[in-house]
Amino acid sequence: MAWGLSDRVKNIAPSPTLSIDAKTKQMIAEGIDVINLSVGEPDFGTPEVACTAGKLAIDEQFTKYTAVPGILELRKKIADFLQGHSGLTYTADDILVSSGAKHSLYNAFMALCNPGDEVILPAPYWVSYPEMITLAEATPVVIHTDETTGFKITPAQLEAAITPKTKVLLLNSPSNPTGAVYTREELQALAEVILKHDFYVISDEIYDQLVYDVEQVSIATFGDEMKARTLLINGFSKAYSMTGWRVGYMAADRSLIKAMTSFQSHTTANPASISQRAAVAALDHRDEQMVSEFRWRRDYVLERLRHMPHLTCDTPSGAFYVFPNCSATYGKSYQGKAINKSDDFAALLLEHAKIALVPGSGFGAPNNFRISYATSRDNLAKAMDRLEAFLRLVQ
Ligand SMILES: Cc1ncc(COP(=O)(O)O)c(C=O)c1O
Repeated sequence: MAWGLSDRVKNIAPSPTLSIDAKTKQMIAEGIDVINLSVGEPDFGTPEVACTAGKLAIDEQFTKYTAVPGILELRKKIADFLQGHSGLTYTADDILVSSGAKHSLYNAFMALCNPGDEVILPAPYWVSYPEMITLAEATPVVIHTDETTGFKITPAQLEAAITPKTKVLLLNSPSNPTGAVYTREELQALAEVILKHDFYVISDEIYDQLVYDVEQVSIATFGDEMKARTLLINGFSKAYSMTGWRVGYMAADRSLIKAMTSFQSHTTANPASISQRAAVAALDHRDEQMVSEFRWRRDYVLERLRHMPHLTCDTPSGAFYVFPNCSATYGKSYQGKAINKSDDFAALLLEHAKIALVPGSGFGAPNNFRISYATSRDNLAKAMDRLEAFLRLVQ
């Protein structure tokens, strides 16, 4: 008899962002006044139209299995949305709805990768990508980026990372954690390299509607050949504040969608019927107020950070994160306690300044940390005061 967990599961690291969030919530429950800047979800409510549609779905007993890739009405509406937002033409057969974009991404890696295939992963990256790639028995090939290129990869870096085993490039624009958004020209240049070497792109566009004074462009828009190689991932968690409803989707060539629908049919089957109805309604909703509020907060946080010692910070153009560089504190200390890496910095901030934020180590960016500004203006003001007071004592 062989006991114990599989190597697959033993080797997984828990999501550092979710662990910090859980720890912070526990401290708050214990009555400790912690300001939580670690969250990856909007602090806005789900649009009322979506809530109403969800309630109606329950009242109408729309509570049974649906078609595995999602109800036709939702897939058609997603196709209409992509046409309007990016000018991309998809039909309902090119869409697979899943239980969150995380699920869509997992489907994508599992369907594309064989053991030993390489997935090019630009860092800083969202924490779940390397784990999902490893679960699919593929190998992440990390391209490191920093402030000098605005946290974006260049075509030359991409060329250098390609090997005969390259299967996929992962792109995430706007990015979690950096907020970086690739321009049309930058994507065009990357698309040329991809087409020359002929591999897939998983393009995670979940923050597509959260951009500030720049356009969000999908790499799938650079011609039919590029579209055929792109697995476009999106969802309802961020733009519609629907994190708990768990609805995400993939748009891709229908042969890929067909294969992934079979895969999904044996794992989770359809996403929740009630959530699908809510998602249909959400697509009629556009919240300009949320975007302008996020822009205000981004500007506020950046302005405050600029006046603090030991930190530098790029201006992010999208999502709801800023990603300051704290490497100037390394080798220094706070009240006798040494700071040598971003984990030390984040741990000391939580303990002494009662601010929760995420160290860059989990994002493959050891010199930075992530602040989420998806919290109230009051909380941000208090957090910035605390951060500034903390930094003034670092020497
Ligand atoms: C870049 C990125 N992709 C995907 C997701 C997953 O979103 P969902 O809630 O739809 O699973 C997140 C959530 O934090 C994210 O930041």
